[in-house]
Amino acid sequence: MNPLKLAVFASGRGSNFLAILEAARAGRLSAEVKVVISNNPEAGALVTARENNIPAIVVSKKDYTDRTAFVRAMLTPLSEHRVEMVILAGYMKKIPPEVVDAFEHRILNIHPALLPSFGGQGMYGHHVHEAVLVQGCRVTGVTVHLVDRDYDRGPIVAQRCVPVEEGDTPDTLAARVLKVEHQIFSESIQLFAEGRVTVTGGRVRIRP
Ligand code: GAR
Repeated sequence: MNPLKLAVFASGRGSNFLAILEAARAGRLSAEVKVVISNNPEAGALVTARENNIPAIVVSKKDYTDRTAFVRAMLTPLSEHRVEMVILAGYMKKIPPEVVDAFEHRILNIHPALLPSFGGQGMYGHHVHEAVLVQGCRVTGVTVHLVDRDYDRGPIVAQRCVPVEEGDTPDTLAARVLKVEHQIFSESIQLFAEGRVTVTGGRVRIRP
């Protein structure tokens, strides 16, 4: 089996990206990260990429007056590196519809809650955990899903529950959720590497 060629999109620290690299290195994931793209020049994920000799590129909408040029800047490295799947590992921007269409059912996002709860515009990173605590939820979790044109609404690949504990703060809850993210993301990508995922009628089926 040839390793699945990945692009990782990340806006920040990049701990999920690092977990993917580690899973691949440990032989738990048959994939290779060919390029990392960030909207944020300060992203830790870019540093991790460079440390691992992976091409790291900044593509930020605000650097482009022309929308077509912006979309091209995103799509060109993906085709140059023959990317088969795009992994959104803490990517906080909306993916342009042209990119969604070019990679239909081949863009995977991780979200730090059980979608469709606590998703949508403005629900990212700490905002999610704060909202879960304000709501008094007893459980939260992680969702890995395919990206379509609707924000946080694409077909669900995997979900796992995480308990909310008495006295949790957004930080303690985020840390507990993140540990699960680091496992479930590589496991989900591996399902694609093994060719076990199909999407019919907007729902994911996983071949045993
Ligand atoms: C992760 O918790 C991820 O689920 C979340 O951002 C964090 C990134 O951490 N993503 C979203 O909220 C997307 N809506 P990382 O940079 O350490 O991987």
